[in-house]
Amino acid sequence: MTEFIEYDLLIVGSGIAGLRAAIESAKKNNKLRIAVISKVQAMRSHSVSAEGGTAAVLFEDEGDNMESHIYDTIKGSDFLADQDVAEKLCLEIPKEIYQLEHWGMPWSRRKDGKISQRNFGGYSYPRATYASDKVGFFEMQTLYDTCLKFDNIKFFNEWYVTSIIHDEEKFRGVTAIEISTGTFYTIKGTALIIASGGAGRMYSYSTYALSSTPDGLDMAYRAGMALKDMEFVQFHPTGILPSGILITEGARGEGGYLINKNGERFMKRYASKKMELAPRDIVSRAIMTEIKNDRGFTHETGIKCMQLDLRHIGDEIIKEKLGAIREISLKFSNIDPSKEPLYIRPVCHYMMGGIHTNINGATEIHGIWAAGEAACNSTHGANRLGANSTSECIVWGKITANLAVDYIAKTNLERQFPTHLIDSEEKRIFDNIFRGKGKENPYEIREQLTNVLNDKAYVYRNELELIEGLKKIRQLRSTSWKHVDDHAKEYNTNFINVMELDSMFRVAEVILLGAIHRKESRGSHARTDYPQRDDKNFLHHTLIYHNLNEPIMKKHPVTITKYKPVERKY
Ligand code: FUM
Repeated sequence: MTEFIEYDLLIVGSGIAGLRAAIESAKKNNKLRIAVISKVQAMRSHSVSAEGGTAAVLFEDEGDNMESHIYDTIKGSDFLADQDVAEKLCLEIPKEIYQLEHWGMPWSRRKDGKISQRNFGGYSYPRATYASDKVGFFEMQTLYDTCLKFDNIKFFNEWYVTSIIHDEEKFRGVTAIEISTGTFYTIKGTALIIASGGAGRMYSYSTYALSSTPDGLDMAYRAGMALKDMEFVQFHPTGILPSGILITEGARGEGGYLINKNGERFMKRYASKKMELAPRDIVSRAIMTEIKNDRGFTHETGIKCMQLDLRHIGDEIIKEKLGAIREISLKFSNIDPSKEPLYIRPVCHYMMGGIHTNINGATEIHGIWAAGEAACNSTHGANRLGANSTSECIVWGKITANLAVDYIAKTNLERQFPTHLIDSEEKRIFDNIFRGKGKENPYEIREQLTNVLNDKAYVYRNELELIEGLKKIRQLRSTSWKHVDDHAKEYNTNFINVMELDSMFRVAEVILLGAIHRKESRGSHARTDYPQRDDKNFLHHTLIYHNLNEPIMKKHPVTITKYKPVERKY
């Protein structure tokens, strides 16, 4: 049985995009009833772990310019970004940097008192705006504190949203489990913003929080929205061994070197101008090529890797500008980066793909928008530049909120609420999953799934391995993992884990199908069997729709405004 509650605007996810959306909508209409629903405590959203920066042009008077940020983003995307969307990001973000400052964001400062910016990969100018190396934490704290000033924003922390309810025409609500009590709710609403973040925990070696599973992507997919460009998974070059925790690109922005076992700064072979500050796809491929050519170190775990050397930067700067990664290195690898190099390897860090939206974050269902990493509005194409993600979250948090509030003002939900959909959702989650039967251990199956993606759809891919990966995922899916052995009502994390696994199967399949069908190399998708970019056949986005037998694939055009695709050189 479900309990019913009702709000006007539902925001699923409490990271940077979700909180920015909540503030904007509360500011625009202080009578609006806004619910922010999150499966974690808001301040434990994965956004808090963003480290290095938020990209923005702040100093045109000193030599930066908008055109350069736009072009860097498009070139970085390997020309798969929608160019009007990339432009919108770059034009909108500078004012948001100052808006955050007015809400209390402690940006780092230069000696002259102005906001400080640092170098990041793929940019022609140091425009990653930072607050030491804890940018996400401070942005989240600033946004969360600001949310608390509005009486009309209500947080539903530790609520797991299971499905989207819509009638033939419009969004009507979501179903959710309150984790602390196990109560099943239907939250009715007029508009929804999905800001549930990325899903990199589908990979075993990952920078993401354990909560970053594809529940949000999957509920959109099951509701009939396309997932777009999911084959483009970003591998950040510097995940520290053995945990995979992020070592910010800011470390290279501050001058860090990447070194192979012969002591060479090997990036000279792959990006002779930009060296360590080439875009991530290029640096990650370079690391894997060095390893393949036997120029890698062997970490004590047996894993092949490279070194990141920060010693020459000096203890003082490391403590001031890279304090968090110093702490991470000491705690998780027992290495002091001012004394010894760190062992690093490419690690799953971001998904360029997500829920298909237009330039304004509108999905294919009336009343539903998506913002931040859960969305694919095509800002980043085939490869995102570092520091453009927090920018995207902030910009589209605001844009989608404005549109959702306008939509609520003019929408009447006169049709009867589709209660039958709640009945089928109860069957899906309680009869088929909670009371399911089976002998496979879902935790082991989940681990195997993450290993399959890590092994078969990593930095370099090929048809044989991708097909093997897909077969393995489908075989794992057909085993009897769908059961919950702990039947407690309160804090049943066993139930949540199995629900997450259910969503991982569908979205892993989409990643692999997209990767199999894209027979070219572009950005983060590097096929050893198709090593060239192929604009003639593949300068398009991939859309995949849910379908019970076999997912349905479609092509979607890339918006090119004025930047002709050319070969990328750095
Ligand atoms: O390296 C980093 O600090 C990551 C930043 C990003 O992904 O935008």
